Amino acid sequence: MTKVFIKTFGCQMNVYDSERMAGVLGADDFEITGDEKSAEYVIINTCSVRQHAEDRALSYIGAAIKDKKVIVAGCMAERMQDELMAKFPRLHAVVGTFNFSNIVSAINRGKKKIFAGITEEKYPVKLRRNEKVRGYITIMQGCDNYCAYCIVPYVRGRERSRDVEGILAEIRQLASDGFKEVMFLGQNVNSFLDAKSGINFSGLLRKSAEISGIERLRFMTSHPKDLTDELIESIAAAPKVCKHIHLPLQSGSDRILKMMNRHYTADWYLSRVRKIREAMPGGAITTDILVGFPGETDVDFQQTLEVMKKAGFDASYIFKYSPRRGTKAALMDSQVDEKEKLKRLNNVLELQKKISEDITKAYVGREVKILVTGPNMVIKTMMEGITDNSKKVIIPGDTGMIGNFYRVKVTRAQTAVMEGEIIK
Ligand code: SAH
Ligand code: SF4
Ligand code: F3S
Repeated sequence: MTKVFIKTFGCQMNVYDSERMAGVLGADDFEITGDEKSAEYVIINTCSVRQHAEDRALSYIGAAIKDKKVIVAGCMAERMQDELMAKFPRLHAVVGTFNFSNIVSAINRGKKKIFAGITEEKYPVKLRRNEKVRGYITIMQGCDNYCAYCIVPYVRGRERSRDVEGILAEIRQLASDGFKEVMFLGQNVNSFLDAKSGINFSGLLRKSAEISGIERLRFMTSHPKDLTDELIESIAAAPKVCKHIHLPLQSGSDRILKMMNRHYTADWYLSRVRKIREAMPGGAITTDILVGFPGETDVDFQQTLEVMKKAGFDASYIFKYSPRRGTKAALMDSQVDEKEKLKRLNNVLELQKKISEDITKAYVGREVKILVTGPNMVIKTMMEGITDNSKKVIIPGDTGMIGNFYRVKVTRAQTAVMEGEIIK
């Protein structure tokens, strides 16, 4: 059998797409291998969200192409198309983000560009999952929000929700394969709407919770503008839905938020935080922060720090603004100096570290329930689990515990990870 190795860059939606490609290939005459050296074909699933992500993928392609047949898929493939073909004349194929299902013909035909408009992705394929306990399901593709800095709407197309029946079938499959947790993915899951059945996001959560075997449902990302009180209440009221909301703030300055085209203010954002805290005591809120958007002054930046302090995020993903060709922000005047961006990045990192430490330390001595997901990457003799509100806890144990829930007493805490002992 022809061996294929898949390398994935980017977000969880790319992980899901890679699992789907692996499913499509596995159903055909291909063997997916975890050993790149033994593979004849290497598929590189790429991300375009920042220049750094593209640079890493480009150097990966450069190295792999020396002795492999390389196929570039995903967001950078969609963005660069001919540019990639010109840069790497030996490329076997380039596959856009609408065409993962065509991966077999990309390999078989070779030297073909396979792009948007040919076929929309088809879901009824059994994915070849990387994990055994927690499964991702993309419930909607694309994005209509056009935040001024962001390439995603250009490389992923218009927002479109999948039909609920297809999603439920996928959850049932996960349940029968022994999975315990499902994570719904979309750029803006709050606006999920299955046009055929009229079922919205709360409806999808309700229906999904009826499937036995799956004990936890998670989702991301929530756009603050679409996170209504009703939605927060329905999440709070559903026992299987995890009490963790990933709610990207980006900036705490109303002026910058407006330039970013985010459609909310710092006050609205903080009202969402208050509502979540009220409805889900003990729940977690995490965020994305973007520093150095064009025109961001020190005053704007201080406002971001202020909102972060008020919100008390459990964790933040913090990014330096990276201009993306074709987006509105790339053309804006007063791009912020690289050194200043770095300084701001470090400020935010420092603040978040303090906030996270305080939150995590308060867990020492408390009891939590975790789902064991696998061995810890650093201390291989310890097992790792996750709480309902997405805290990582490591405990002594063995691989036989994977996929089970345990009550654990937290004995130590660092910034992001806790240690604990099973309560017998
Ligand atoms: N749909 C999600 C985010 C998807 S991209 C949302 O609306 O929040 C993930 C994160 O990457 C974004 O939240 C943003 O903080 C960051 N990001 C997007 N474009 C970027 C750019 N041009 N430079 C740096 N970071 C960027
Ligand atoms: Fe990008 Fe904004 Fe869409 Fe998120 S909501 S994917 S940041 S355009
Ligand atoms: Fe995800 Fe990167 Fe594409 S963040 S949607 S892989 S541009």
